[in-house]
Amino acid sequence: MSTVPPAAVDLSDGRSFGGGFPHDFFTWLRAEAPLWWHAPTATTPDGEGFWVLSRYADVDAVIMDAASFSSDTGGDRVGGGTAIKDEPTAGKVLNHTDDPYHKRLRALVNKGFTVRAVAALEDELRRRCRALLDALDAGEELDFAHRVSREIPTQAICIVLGVPEGDRERLVDLVDAGIETPSDSVIAAEQARELRRYAQALIETKRAQPDAAIFSTIVHAELADGVRLNDAELRSFFALLFPAGAETTTRAISGGLLALIENPAAWARLCAEPTLARGAVEEIVRWTTPSVYKRRTATRDLELLGQPIRAGEKVTFWEMSANRDERVFADPFRFDITRSPNKHLGFGAGVHFCLGAALARLEIKVMLEELVARGLDFELAGQPQWMPNNRLFGLKALPVRAIAR
Ligand code: HEM
Repeated sequence: MSTVPPAAVDLSDGRSFGGGFPHDFFTWLRAEAPLWWHAPTATTPDGEGFWVLSRYADVDAVIMDAASFSSDTGGDRVGGGTAIKDEPTAGKVLNHTDDPYHKRLRALVNKGFTVRAVAALEDELRRRCRALLDALDAGEELDFAHRVSREIPTQAICIVLGVPEGDRERLVDLVDAGIETPSDSVIAAEQARELRRYAQALIETKRAQPDAAIFSTIVHAELADGVRLNDAELRSFFALLFPAGAETTTRAISGGLLALIENPAAWARLCAEPTLARGAVEEIVRWTTPSVYKRRTATRDLELLGQPIRAGEKVTFWEMSANRDERVFADPFRFDITRSPNKHLGFGAGVHFCLGAALARLEIKVMLEELVARGLDFELAGQPQWMPNNRLFGLKALPVRAIAR
């Protein structure tokens, strides 16, 4: 390992990720600078530098210590959140709050996302998955990312939230366009506004006609102290849940297929032993880590790796890098569907552990099982393209050719 620093990658610029994740840079960081100060650049929001943690143990320690590393509080101004940029939603939306308020918000939605609740969707998702894959013919060329990967996650989140199927395409296009626009925010401002306008209309529909879906429950729920969420908070909740449910799993499915195409032995093994799908899901989430970093804010003066960190400073931790940490994963750059143990941090950890993990795991597992059952193999038919986004990272296009097995 070279001790000469490679040219620093601007981690606050989505375009740095347009050619794929900068793994070489992070491998160097893990070895030589596990706590690195990222000085502000022309694209860094708020004009503030931030700390970068890249090793598994340090990422895990920070995620688990929510009292010292806040998802809510910002620096010396109002704001905070989990992106590099201080967000106006800090303190209001589930992932941008700390306990005890976070716990109360999470209690509103937890029930809808338990392993048992999402298991009820399995037959329906499998039926939809089969229909989708049955429509593919041997010899056909397609953009797997667009035609297949995004279908099941977006259909599922619509069912769970109670979004009419007819609105799905428009919402997904909006979210996709927002992520493609280089920006530090998860989705760009204009698309976020449009998503909120849609959410407002949906809130009004659910107020007038309550249904059993989660979003209706959230609209009508009273927090423990008898207060309901106001419209702005509900809009933000929707603007969190829809992209969180739609985008990450979509990227995991595309990235998973690419990994299986690039590792034909793993694909052959899965086809021979479909019960390996459960382990393959975990390896796909480790490998693709669609939610690549998070940011917290230090709530007090403290020390990390012997380095003083001042209250109010931004600390980012990179789950993608933690998931390739050679201190934890044997041969981390090998895609191994039988990897065990596989304690990846792809779904985060601690109090903000991914709400949708059971749903995502189910969607990816059903997709893998149905791909195997369909009897088609896939080969690349062009260059895969990556989304230029540093936060929701993954494939924008995956041109493949289906071939009879
Ligand atoms: C492969 C797919 C997915 C990945 C890799 C993923 C990743 C993550 C990660 C790393 C976190 C932690 C955030 C933090 O520490 O600040 C998280 C939180 C969250 N995820 Fe997921 N996610 C996925 C699928 C989903 C799905 C299907 C939903 C469905 C709605 C969802 C909803 C959420 C929500 C609402 C939170 C915030 C939880 C909280 O702050 O308490 N995710 N996710």
